[in-house]
Order: sequence, then structure tokens, then C-alpha cells
Amino acid sequence: MGEAIICDVESVMKYVVRGEKATFHPGDRSKSYWPVDEHRVKIRDVRPKIRELSIERNGFVVVDEPTCVTDFTDAAELKRYCRQAEGVVRRLTGADKVVSFGPMLRSNATDATDHNQPAFGAHVDYGEESVADFTRELLPPDEAERRLERRHMLINVWRPIVMVESAPLAVCDARTVWCEDLFDSEVVGGLGDFNRRSLWGFNLAYHPGHRWYWVPHMQPWEALVFKLFDSDPEAIQFTAHSAFDDPNTPPDAAPRQSIEVRTIAYF
Ligand code: OGA
Ligand code: FE
Repeated sequence: MGEAIICDVESVMKYVVRGEKATFHPGDRSKSYWPVDEHRVKIRDVRPKIRELSIERNGFVVVDEPTCVTDFTDAAELKRYCRQAEGVVRRLTGADKVVSFGPMLRSNATDATDHNQPAFGAHVDYGEESVADFTRELLPPDEAERRLERRHMLINVWRPIVMVESAPLAVCDARTVWCEDLFDSEVVGGLGDFNRRSLWGFNLAYHPGHRWYWVPHMQPWEALVFKLFDSDPEAIQFTAHSAFDDPNTPPDAAPRQSIEVRTIAYF
């Protein structure tokens, strides 16, 4: 067996200017206000560490999780895939109940809409308020209030649809994401729905202590599962993430195609 090649890279990370509140219009990005503060950062190959990761400690894990779903644009198959994502989160966290919302296909192919482009910019979607909004949307009223009184987490399940060759996703170890560096972000018309009320999350301002990771050559049978919010303020709460340009991307690289499903786990 040969030694695995370690693919640490350097790339420019789009942080938010410290102190600025951003307004993001994913359906028409030119309308957004998102003052960017670019910093070159090291993005480490997480593969050698995969077995040591845990959601409680790092905020994210990488798991082998093949899926039978091949056509994510088919409503019935997508629904089936969302059930699978909920199951992954239940298995990984031991939650009592897991619901999902906002599945999103992304591509940087030239015919992709603004809505579905990779998200370049260090952010965390979403915070407490939007998690409560979604809970009230997804559960009966009395159950929603009961669940919100107890511990709950927002967890994203992200996977490639084809091997990632361009615009990979970087995640920031949640141990190195400090609340003082998070600034409000309002998402207007998010999740492909122009009429939806604003979603609230955070953008990340630069801190030299951030530890960024990526999964080189990430495969369609692998899933990145990362925690975006935890109602327990003592726990690791916010796994920031962003698409980035890998400097080693060949010019003929296939477009990124990925699917992410947001889940809420209740305990
Ligand atoms: C996400 C996200 C960005 C991307 O899954 O929440 O921000 O480029 N993804 O896939
Ligand atoms: Fe995100």
C-alpha cells in the first residue's frame, strides 16, 4: 500500500467584513448586500482524520452513505432521499425525532440558476429563530412548542451527485468558530421560494484560528453531515462552511453537482 497523498490546499475565503449585517438574495444575487473580506486560508485534507471526527466535538463528520436515489429532480425520489437523510441524522445523533426541509440541488454548470449556485462565502444557515420557524411549520402546534423547549439541533446532510471536481465545500471545525465572529445574515427569498419570510443565519468574520477542512475527490456515496445550530449553548453550535475554488481544479473539470438536505433533530 502506498502512502495516501495529502491534499491540503490554500484558497481565498470570502469572509464578511467584521461588524456588517448582510442581506442575501439567493434568487438574484446582484441585489445582495454582503461586504466581503477576503483572506487566504489553508484548507486541510480531512481524509486522514475522518475516523476521529465527531459532531459533538468538531461539528461535522464524513460518512459512507450510499443512496439508491439517482434522479434527485424526481419529487418521489427526492422525498425518499430526504427520509434517508433523516435516518442518517437519527443514527448519528440518537435523536428522538428528525424532520427535514429545504432540499437543495446545486450546480455551477453554465445553465444553473442563481438559486442553485454553490455558496461562496463563510456562513452558517440558520440560527435559533429560523429553526423555530421551521419547527412550527413542520410539526403540529403543541408538539412544536414541546420540542422547542428541549434540546434540538439543525443538521445539514450534504453530498455530491457526481464526484466533486470543482467548487468543493469547505467546513470550519466548529471548535474554532467563536460567537464574536458571527454576524447576522438575512436571506430573502431563500430555499428557492421568493415568497418565503426571511431566513436568519450568520456570516463569519475572519479569525486566524479557524481550521478549515475539505474532502478531496468527494464521492457520491459519501455524505458530509454538519451541525448548524444547537439549542444547547454549552455545546459546539455553529459549523461554518463555504464553497471555494480549489487552485488545482483542471480546466476541463466537471461542474459541481450536489444535494443538501437540512434536518432538525429533537431530543
Ligand atoms: C449548505 C451550503 C454551499 C454549497 O449546504 O448549507 O451552504 O456550495 N452549501 O454547496
Ligand atoms: Fe450553507
